[in-house]
Amino acid sequence: MVEYRIRPYREEDYEAVREVFATGMSEYAPALCLHVLRQPWVLLVLGCTFCLLLASARSLLLPVLAITLLLALARHLLGCAWSTYIDRCLGDDLRDIGAAYAESAGARFWVAEADERVVGMVGVRPADNGAEGELVLKRMSVRKDYRGLGIATALGRTALDFARQRGCRAVVLNTQMLQHEARALYERLGFRRHRCYVLPTAYGRLANCTITTYRYDLAGRA
Ligand SMILES: CC(C)(COP(=O)(O)OP(=O)(O)OC[C@H]1O[C@@H](n2cnc3c(N)ncnc32)[C@H](O)[C@@H]1OP(=O)(O)O)[C@@H](O)C(=O)NCCC(=O)NCCS
Repeated sequence: MVEYRIRPYREEDYEAVREVFATGMSEYAPALCLHVLRQPWVLLVLGCTFCLLLASARSLLLPVLAITLLLALARHLLGCAWSTYIDRCLGDDLRDIGAAYAESAGARFWVAEADERVVGMVGVRPADNGAEGELVLKRMSVRKDYRGLGIATALGRTALDFARQRGCRAVVLNTQMLQHEARALYERLGFRRHRCYVLPTAYGRLANCTITTYRYDLAGRA
């Protein structure tokens, strides 16, 4: 059984935290490609391209080659888009973790430590929309070889305890459509689905990028 402990973030954890986050998120790149490939408009474009080329070339080689190239290009572009998203997160609150999660701002960041290294993390900050008494849970991630040990559950409970002690009303968070394990984790922790919407950007609409907001109401809960 692996021994781990949850402790507050320290500046020397900086590189490890960014690496755990980036690695955890980059795992979703293949799932994102599959998700986009399953969209009806993508299947229609691929199907029409295949049929048109087959009809004009009267050979299977050209359409098969063209579809293979299209798929490779799409995979590359989606990979770039996903990397850009990860970089944006690294340049946001994970750029200066100490400042973004400063106690003076009512925020906090924790890491899970095992085998003398950082293997997981989570943070909470006051909501950007200024909703009073609400904290946003962010950057939950656990190294792949330390998953299934209850580390994320322990990190989530630590964050909820913190919010409770601060007298907060609720803890909220966002998940993307690909994060099935995370959604199961939050539901198991007692979060309720609050809102579900398609990301209101061109990319969000094209990729049918669905965001599910979860909420844990602390009022009336022990
Ligand atoms: C989501 C994540 C943090 C879970 O970490 P973990 O330490 O393995 O989670 P735990 O061991 O505490 O498991 C808690 C619950 O999560 C759910 N869960 C975890 N892994 C799962 C999996 N592979 N499949 C289905 N459910 C899973 C289960 O409900 C589990 O409870 P159970 O073991 O009683 O069934 C981890 O998979 C991860 O880091 N993923 C990549 C980053 C990410 O998606 N972060 C979420 C951002 S919103």
